[in-house]
Order: sequence, then C-alpha cells, then structure tokens
Amino acid sequence: VTEYETILVEQRGRVGWITLNRPQALNALNGRVSEEVAVAAEAFDADSGIGAIVVTGSEKAFAAGADIKEMESKTASEMLETDHFGAWTRFAAVRTPVIAAVSGYALGGGCELAMMCDIILAADSARFGQPEINLGVVPGMGGTQRLIRAVGYYKAAELILSGRMIDAAEAERIGLVSRVVAATELLAEATTLADTIASKSLPSLYAAKATLDAAMETSLEDGLAVEKQQFAALFDTADQKEGMAAFREKRPPHFAHR
Ligand code: CAA
Repeated sequence: VTEYETILVEQRGRVGWITLNRPQALNALNGRVSEEVAVAAEAFDADSGIGAIVVTGSEKAFAAGADIKEMESKTASEMLETDHFGAWTRFAAVRTPVIAAVSGYALGGGCELAMMCDIILAADSARFGQPEINLGVVPGMGGTQRLIRAVGYYKAAELILSGRMIDAAEAERIGLVSRVVAATELLAEATTLADTIASKSLPSLYAAKATLDAAMETSLEDGLAVEKQQFAALFDTADQKEGMAAFREKRPPHFAHR
C-alpha cells in the first residue's frame, strides 16, 4: 500500500483515526480495504505518539460485511491458499487499544471487525448481525468465536443460525456493545473516549490490553500468570514511578509513555 484508496487515515493528537470509505458498497470489506486497514493500524501501533486507534465508517454503514461480489466465485482451495481474511489477523494483533465507533450497518464481517476492537461505541442507529447463513456460509472473520465469548452461547447461536439483525439497544443489553450514544454524538463521544485513553501511560495501556486478551484466550490460572507478569513489569517504567509520585503529591501525572 503506497496510497490509501478505501480508507481515510488521520492522526488527531495521540489518537489514530481510520475511517472506512467505500460508500458505494456500504464499506464492504474487500481485499484492498483489509490490507489498507491492517497497514494503517500497524503503522499507528508502531508509533509511540499514538495511544488509541478509532475505527469508524459512515452514518449509514460501519461495514455491511465482507465483499460478497469478490468472494462469490472462489473455490475452497482459493479461500484457504490466499488466506482470504488473513489481513484481519494483523489488525486484531495490534497492542494499542482500538475503539470501534459504529453507526448504521455492522453486518457479517462488519460486526466481526467491531468485535476485533476493544471497545464498541454504538450510535442508536447501529444494526448488528451475522447474516452469513443467508448466503450459504458461516461467519469467517472470527464471528463464530468472538460472538460467543461476547454474549454467551445461546444469544450467539440464535444470531448466527437465524441471521437476525439486532438494533443498538438489544446489542447493548446482550453485551455486544460497550455503550450506546445518540447518532449525532457518536464521533464526539468516540473522540472524548479515545483522547482519555490515549492520555494514559502507553506501557500500561499495552499491558491492560495484553491481560484482557489473555482473559479471552486462556484458563483462569494462565490468565492470572499473565496478569502477574504484566503488573510486575510495569514497575520498571518511568510512568509507574510518575503515576504513583503524582498520587502522593496530589497532582495530575505527566506520563512520558515509557
Ligand atoms: N458485499 C458487496 N457489496 C455490498 C455488500 C457486501 N457485503 N453490502 C452492500 N453491498 C453493495 C450492494 O450490492 C449495493 O451495490 P450496487 O449499488 O452496485 O447494487 C450497494 O452496496 C448498496 O447496498 P444496497 O442497495 O443493498 O443497500 P440497502 O440500503 O438496500 O441495504 C443492506 C443495505 C441491508 C446492508 C444490504 O446491502 C445487505 O444485506 N448487504 C449484505 C449484508 C451481508 O450479507 N453481509 C455479510 C457478508 S458475508 C461476510 O461478511 C462473511 C464473513 O463472515 C467475513
């Protein structure tokens, strides 16, 4: 990727913004979009001037799924050999906290992209669903695994087996979204939240995300071992000394992000 064609990328303060920008296809995620999002997220992740990433779409669609027209004629071996959704593994692996700011449709791969993020802020207009069953397939960007971990077996099974779309209020009730806000306030709320997160010490943000990831992936015992390790390691950072000194001196901390 030498120039972004399907996304807008911008740094505002310590926050990296990625806006999906394929309006003619409701931000359907084709190979180009996937690669561009992965490259942009990896570049932000490598930059110590960035403490949070926001991924958003348009008012009408966060993303209406993987690009169906691109996939339609593929064979099974082509899907496997090219690792069709492989770029998303790179996106999901960034250390920086990622916020999905969702307005409109988040369907199929769009819902799965939101679930790769750490926080899902939803406009009251947001619609979530895994409609792959209507196309003769199943979720393929992590949805079968992440949705169950987010909402439990019975909610996930109903959504994946029926393809039913849910509104923002139901998504919040079942635990799929972190918070619902008025559609007109979505970007302002995402900005406030991202700026707040990005103002924290970068090493502690990385550690927090690593421990959250561990909770998703391992047993309690292994996860607690990760926590012990991450917690202890922070005591070698300048920011831990600064954060605790600031508390003792009753003043705000000035983090150096190291
Ligand atoms: N792939 C490719 N193109 C898509 C698309 C997708 N997932 N979703 C929408 N588009 C295209 C439409 O084909 C249409 O293009 P044309 O103007 O060239 O016909 C354009 O975007 C606008 O869409 P609609 O006219 O359909 O808009 P609408 O407002 O009438 O309907 C919608 C909106 C209900 C979201 C409808 O577009 C829709 O059902 N989209 C598909 C949703 C879906 O099935 N997603 C799952 C995809 S599979 C997947 O994601 C696999 C995985 O697990 C990774």
